[in-house]
Amino acid sequence: MDAANRDGRESVSVNRHSSAERRRSGPEWLGFLRAFLRAPSTVGAVLPSSAHLARMMLAGHDLQRARVVVELGPGTGAFTRFIEQAAHPEAVILALEVDASAVAWLRERHPRVQIEHDSAERIRAQLRSRGLDRADAILSGIPWAAMPAALQERIMGEVRAAMAPSAWFSTFTYLHSPRTARGAAYAALLARSFARVERSPMVWRNFPPAFVYRCATSA
Ligand SMILES: C[S@@+](CC[C@H](N)C(=O)[O-])C[C@H]1O[C@@H](n2cnc3c(N)ncnc32)[C@H](O)[C@@H]1O
Repeated sequence: MDAANRDGRESVSVNRHSSAERRRSGPEWLGFLRAFLRAPSTVGAVLPSSAHLARMMLAGHDLQRARVVVELGPGTGAFTRFIEQAAHPEAVILALEVDASAVAWLRERHPRVQIEHDSAERIRAQLRSRGLDRADAILSGIPWAAMPAALQERIMGEVRAAMAPSAWFSTFTYLHSPRTARGAAYAALLARSFARVERSPMVWRNFPPAFVYRCATSA
């Protein structure tokens, strides 16, 4: 899907920018806003998620037990740094992101994370190219409630197929989403796809307020 991924094993290139270059690239939220203006339905939010929402994405799970962790749609890395901190030192952390400038930003800041310019539809291909079979944990930042139902189904099929039997999946949605047609379709898709789906408390300290669906394949 992406020239950089033709052999599926692009190595993580760490390109450290000078502080002057970093200042020119602007704050995180500005890059995020630019990405939103370029592709509103792909980005699905005007601001990065808060640290409060990031912590809620990880709450209730022991990431230390996971050896293969996948993040979908890391954007500017709002969840990535928390995943990095919580993960086992030997865990493989793979992140798939379709926005090329976000990929460059993330590679500079998260050298430990294997960041691929690729779609969430290709989790297994990316795992296979590393000799890995399934993921133990998948955390999603992609804007499901802004996506058409067919794409939701396709990516969810991939998520389920990429999960090890005891794996878990965390995904967030905004306060208002379940009242929208696509948000309701997403909630129904989760209920069909997983044996267990729990809703976290609302995270008010996020814009917009959001909550997390914690999902598992066994009850
Ligand atoms: C709402 S932003 C979330 C970014 C970050 N996780 C956060 O919570 O602040 C959604 C991100 O998902 C990415 N994205 C959208 N569709 C994707 C797909 N099919 N595969 C991978 N990334 C995708 C977008 O480019 C964007 O960076």
